[in-house]
Formats: sequence, C-alpha cells, structure tokens
Amino acid sequence: MLILKDLQQMKHNQIKLTMMTAYDYPSAKQVEAAGIDMILVGDSLGMTVLGYDSTVYVTMEDMIHHTKAVRRGAPDTFTIIDMPFGSVGISDDRDICNAVRLYRESGAQAVKAEGGHLTTFIYNCTKIGVPVVAHLGLTPQSAGITGYAVQAKTKDAALQLITDSKAVEEAGAVMLVLEAVPSDLASHISRLLSIPVIGIGAGRDTDGQVLVYHDVLNYATDRKPKFVKQYGDFSNGVTALSHYNHEVKEGLFPTEEFIYKTKIMDEVEND
Ligand code: KIV
Ligand code: NA
Repeated sequence: MLILKDLQQMKHNQIKLTMMTAYDYPSAKQVEAAGIDMILVGDSLGMTVLGYDSTVYVTMEDMIHHTKAVRRGAPDTFTIIDMPFGSVGISDDRDICNAVRLYRESGAQAVKAEGGHLTTFIYNCTKIGVPVVAHLGLTPQSAGITGYAVQAKTKDAALQLITDSKAVEEAGAVMLVLEAVPSDLASHISRLLSIPVIGIGAGRDTDGQVLVYHDVLNYATDRKPKFVKQYGDFSNGVTALSHYNHEVKEGLFPTEEFIYKTKIMDEVEND
C-alpha cells in the first residue's frame, strides 16, 4: 500500500495522484484493481448509494459502515473517510472525538473535513496523530448557503481561498481537495502549497484528480456536473435486468444448464 509519505512524495516527483470514491466492497475492489492511488469514501454516498438529495443526511454510522466494507474490498489502498455534516465544526472536544471515532472504527488512513474555518480542528487532530485532508472551494455540506456553483470567482473570494489553503496546510493538513474553482486559481494554490492538492472541477494543474465512481461509470446518477468525464457505462445493467425479467415471465429461464437434476423424487414416491 502507498502510505501518506509516498503520496506526498509523488507531488515533489511531479507524478499525478489519482483518487476515486468508493462506497462498498465491489466498488472498492474495482478501484484497487484499477491501480488508483487513493480511495475517498465520500459523503457523496448520501446521493450515490443512499438516494438522498443532499449530503447533510449522512451520519457517522453510515460513514463507518460503508468505509469498513471499502476496506475489505481494497485492503491495500490508502483510504480517506469523509467527516459527515454536523460531525465537525461544532465544538473542539466533540470534533476531535468524532474524528478519533471515524478513524479508529473505520480503518481509514485519514479523515477529510470541509471548510477553511477548521484550522483548530486540523491542528488538534494532527497533534494526536489523525491525518486530516482539508476540502475547500465548493463544499457540498454548505450547499444550503452557497448552492453548487463554482466558487472563488471574485478577487476577494480568490484571496480568501488562497489564505484558507495556506492556513489548513500550516495547521497540519496532509492533503487538500479543491472542488469547483477556476483552474488558474487552483494552479496557483497547487504551486504555493507543499502538500498534494487534489482537484475536482479545478483544472489540470493540480497535483492530482478525484472523481465520483458513479459519475465516471454512469451508474444511476441524477445529475452530471461539467467537470465529470464518463469513462464507462453501468446504465446498461438495466438492459440486462429487463432481459432477466422478460425471460422469467416467458418461461425462458432457467434452462437445463442452470438446474440441479436428480432422481430423488423417484425414491420419495417408491417409499
Ligand atoms: O464526497 C465526495 O465524493 C467528495 C469528493 C467530491 C471530493 O467529497
Ligand atoms: Na464529500
């Protein structure tokens, strides 16, 4: 398994870092088999696998449950667990207890938290040995206030993002995820920081990229942001399922090859 030091070194060797979300055993197995560097168990699972229309309904228990399955599917891949809405940013004591619980119970190698206001939290976690990935730019847990629009489009907002990025690095963040920000700004921040900057909708000059599994594979998603490239198509599963439905209704399945055959009823009836 690539450990944190290896991943951080890749930035300095100018090797692009790859990250993909996964939420369960089969998706994690596929991501690991594809040789992707890191797995993010994102709270996007609220939408992609639990069917909510927002990440704010995802609980600590949801995150732990899914991350444990991911770890079983990808035991050799560095895995990051999202801190769900309301589990961080409330009070210093509660925040750190939640981070400790997610880290210890899930088996993930790092926790990720949204927002530039979390420098104390990041510092506290780092002090006790919990690696934290910061997440800035579009932070979906705040979509109730910000919406899902591209962030940092004004000069003030861009300067604030630069300040926040420096601040989370100084607090001890081991990596930074930048979501939906202008590419020239993401490029600048990537050069400014020593820690890897992983972009999603942040252009091509970040140190790495992350996308959502269900978006990449067109697997029953409801909306497709501009920054998503679809590399595969799991929607054809519907065709397969319709075929099964049809064959059972018409008596075409199961055929001989799928049937256990004995003469056991001859014996039962001869008794
Ligand atoms: O939850 C998630 O999938 C994320 C990525 C989009 C970065 O946070
Ligand atoms: Na997330």
